[in-house]
Amino acid sequence: MNKLRGVVIAAVALFSISLHSGAALAQKKIVMGFSQIGAESEWRTANSESIKSAAKEAGIELKFSDAQQKQENQIKAIRSFIAQKVDVIAFSPVVESGWDTVLREAKTAKIPVILTDRAVDSKDTTLYTTFMGSDFVEEGRKAGRWLVEKVKSQPGDVNVVELQGTVGSAPAIDRKKGFEEIIKAEPRIKIIRSQTGDFTRAKGKEVMEAFLKAEGKKINVLYAHNDDMAIGAIQAIEEAGLKPSKDITIISIDAVKGAFEAMMAGKLDVSIECSPLLGPQLMSAAKDLMAGKTLPRRIVTEESIFPKEVAAKEFPKRKY
Ligand code: AHR
Repeated sequence: MNKLRGVVIAAVALFSISLHSGAALAQKKIVMGFSQIGAESEWRTANSESIKSAAKEAGIELKFSDAQQKQENQIKAIRSFIAQKVDVIAFSPVVESGWDTVLREAKTAKIPVILTDRAVDSKDTTLYTTFMGSDFVEEGRKAGRWLVEKVKSQPGDVNVVELQGTVGSAPAIDRKKGFEEIIKAEPRIKIIRSQTGDFTRAKGKEVMEAFLKAEGKKINVLYAHNDDMAIGAIQAIEEAGLKPSKDITIISIDAVKGAFEAMMAGKLDVSIECSPLLGPQLMSAAKDLMAGKTLPRRIVTEESIFPKEVAAKEFPKRKY
């Protein structure tokens, strides 16, 4: 009888321990390490804000690290997240190449990695769980299609200068590729100069000044891989005594508020949307992962095109 009582007490004790640890497990806060590229553009600032506020909202502990546009700083941050044994690592890679070693370290430590905004070119796709963000090639195509349509009824050559994003970054590579893919069907559209403006206003202005010095009034179109560079270039165009959007057609990507302001002032022709508001999607993906769910390999953000004709109507609705 005593033996039976002992067994029952032990079973009850075990059951209550497992109940408690189950509750503790359910309450355990997810810890995410996030390595951000930097603060090079209005887009990036909105992206960081979206991630921080979504983490708070989702009750996820966020370890946020700003790499100041240096890959070595991102690698250091990821290694420190591994050392701290975070539950999940997310990052937006500044360039596409050179991530395999550190991603293998995360895999060995059994910490899942989510890519946000930009892709890596690793052959081993098991090194990351999913990639969420825009289709940059499609953004370049949208810019190209808009231009082809715009010059349809205009005779003669169309000379384009291109301000590329950060060298080696996915958006710079893909936006160039998508744009060229479309304009090659119209041989009179020619890219006469192409250089990086590193996604910043200051560099966009500086490079546009050089383009204007070299090509002057030959330039018909500016294709900028982001709004910040276009806004910097607009300043250079005005300082050179030309009228942006009248003397030079301007196409850019992101659709940040600054671009809408430029469109409403009649200085920018069109901005192709690239949404930085990835925070909520990222947090729900992290929760799904922790709950043992399988994520889709690719999560694509849906986006629009905003020509200057709709800018004033759309502006009040813009969230970034
Ligand atoms: O990766 C997205 C790009 O990076 C945005 O177009 C640009 O503004 C940012 O810096």
